[in-house]
Amino acid sequence: DNDLPQLKVNQTRLMAELHHTCQWGSGVPWKDATDPSTQTGMSRLALSDADKAARDWFVETTRSLGCDVTVDAMGNIFAVRPGSYGPKGIPTYCGSHLDTQPAGGRYDGILGVLAGVEMLRVMKEHDVETAYPVGVVNWTNEEGARFPISMVSSGVWAGEIPLERAHALKEVGGSGATMRDELERIGYLGTVPASYEAMPMAAHFELHIEQGPILEAENRRIGIVEGVQAYRWYTVEVVGREAHTGTTPFSARADALLTAARMIAYSHEIAVRKYALASTGILSLSPGSVNTVPGKVTFSLDIRAPFDKTLDDIERTLFQFDFRQIVSSEYTKGRELSFTWTVDSVSPATRFQKSCIEVAKSAAESLGKESSRNVRVMTSGAGHDSVYTSRRCPTSMIFVRCRDGVSHNPEEYASPEDCATGAEVLLQSVLRYDRL
Ligand code: GLV
Ligand code: MN
Ligand code: MN
Ligand code: MN
Repeated sequence: DNDLPQLKVNQTRLMAELHHTCQWGSGVPWKDATDPSTQTGMSRLALSDADKAARDWFVETTRSLGCDVTVDAMGNIFAVRPGSYGPKGIPTYCGSHLDTQPAGGRYDGILGVLAGVEMLRVMKEHDVETAYPVGVVNWTNEEGARFPISMVSSGVWAGEIPLERAHALKEVGGSGATMRDELERIGYLGTVPASYEAMPMAAHFELHIEQGPILEAENRRIGIVEGVQAYRWYTVEVVGREAHTGTTPFSARADALLTAARMIAYSHEIAVRKYALASTGILSLSPGSVNTVPGKVTFSLDIRAPFDKTLDDIERTLFQFDFRQIVSSEYTKGRELSFTWTVDSVSPATRFQKSCIEVAKSAAESLGKESSRNVRVMTSGAGHDSVYTSRRCPTSMIFVRCRDGVSHNPEEYASPEDCATGAEVLLQSVLRYDRL
């Protein structure tokens, strides 16, 4: 591969542009921030006005860099730079997401898209001609924070989630707005079908921060991702009985919140036993009054493990367990409690394709003599759109380390040097794949 141009990304430009796009969204301050222009987190929920502004910037910028831009029925944005075989070849893409958690950082997702834009800039600057088109894709609502299925739009593209189901997803927090309503409102309900058939990909590479502590702990710069652990999301509803807190003895209660608390603790216990993870991030209770025993509680449950079978086991254990047992010795009315489990989303364990893993690995190793020592092959704990692209095209991911392994937190941070190194590996991966 000696004839591959040793193109460098422009670190200053990459970081300046990343922070530039963070004017759209609210910066979530962190306590020790010394430079508020770059050291705040980011709150940019999918399909909000801020997300629209960031999308408009992406469309305008990639057009100015010579791309054709297509928006599909999930609002996924595909920016494609033609190759020398003409526009008909199937593009090699890099992509990620511009949406964030409600109190997220500036790197999760954003880095991957901005590194793609930087790739386009470098290619233009050096008049690089690829054989096939190359593209950058921004996937809608990867986080699942606003519309509660993560990676939902790459899931529709891959044919794994029905479009109607995705469009009907309602915003968390109860305004009633659906994904389709919001796509329409911000002008990103595209007419092209959200499907791998309409928008095929030769390959998908995704640069992302690791969001965990491994690279930093091992003092390595680059992770090459082989696969992603499995996860499932549930909504659990517990219905008990409302009662006066001052007049109702414990034995006469059916306390939905106390029961939910025990269910959450129990899910954690089971997960520990199975070397898995269980987390609750949304909890709501009603009626929400100091002196009323809660009659209804709804909470989210997210379970994760490297193997689907582990999640099958945990799911069975939880579904079959009669939580009334836990409470009814103390609460006679506990027998009146009822539970509903809804499976909201299932992301099976994923293995990426060897072709892409090898390309990304050799791209990382080509960057310098010592860099093979800096590279670690690893599994992702978090889900990514690459999970779904890998169902339809060869896929791999490139990780860069982030400080203290912290993510989904305003203090999320990756150094400019690491971001630029990752962007260079991404660029080299796309160029190498184009030559395969
Ligand atoms: C998706 O990004 C997830 O890991 O929750
Ligand atoms: Mn992400
Ligand atoms: Mn995320
Ligand atoms: Mn994610």
